[in-house]
Amino acid sequence: KKKVAPYEPHSFLRASERAPGSESHHSIQGQEELNEQMRMIDLADDDLELLRRMKPAIVRNIDEITDHFYSSVIDVGKLEQIIVKHSSIDRLKQTLREHIVEIFDGSVDNRYITKRLVIANIHKKVGLEPKWYLSAFQNLQNVFIGVIYKEAFNDAERLKMVQTLTKLLNLEQQLVLE
Ligand code: HEM
Repeated sequence: KKKVAPYEPHSFLRASERAPGSESHHSIQGQEELNEQMRMIDLADDDLELLRRMKPAIVRNIDEITDHFYSSVIDVGKLEQIIVKHSSIDRLKQTLREHIVEIFDGSVDNRYITKRLVIANIHKKVGLEPKWYLSAFQNLQNVFIGVIYKEAFNDAERLKMVQTLTKLLNLEQQLVLE
């Protein structure tokens, strides 16, 4: 099975291309480790291709995904307070929408990783504890899987889509735990 090209240090997370703000990945060693993390979850070229094929279905259902996400978040009193204090539901729905759609561009490159590290840091600053962050990802995953089934792909394709999707969500959680 063909491994994703970005695993190669020459094409992925090169030190020379690092965007500012990616403090936790400023060493070559950190970048190589991230490549190893991706290898470990078996993220490969075919996953990235599949993400791109899934994109229209996700875009069609983006409101359902973000609405469900935020209604579950504001059900938790202390999370709602964090949002009210630092932002607003409407603003966050919009940023989450962009964030989600971008996953399905299937370009896990330096920019993608850096952006997610920055967002993880923003959440640390607003005092969002990792347990809530991880709960939020599970919530997101539940809705995603529902959407995949609703969109009626065939069985084999659904299985692959769920596997691919969970890899990408897991990668994002790995970045949050950095
Ligand atoms: C900001 C995504 C969970 C509260 C953001 C931003 C994104 C994002 C893309 C925008 C960052 C920017 O302004 O550039 C996510 C994802 C989550 C998640 C993918 C989990 C799957 C949560 C949860 C809360 C939360 C559970 C509950 C309190 C906030 C707040 C900001 C923010 C308050 C704005 C911070 C600011 O503008 O100062 N999030 N979020 N997020 N998120 Fe989340």
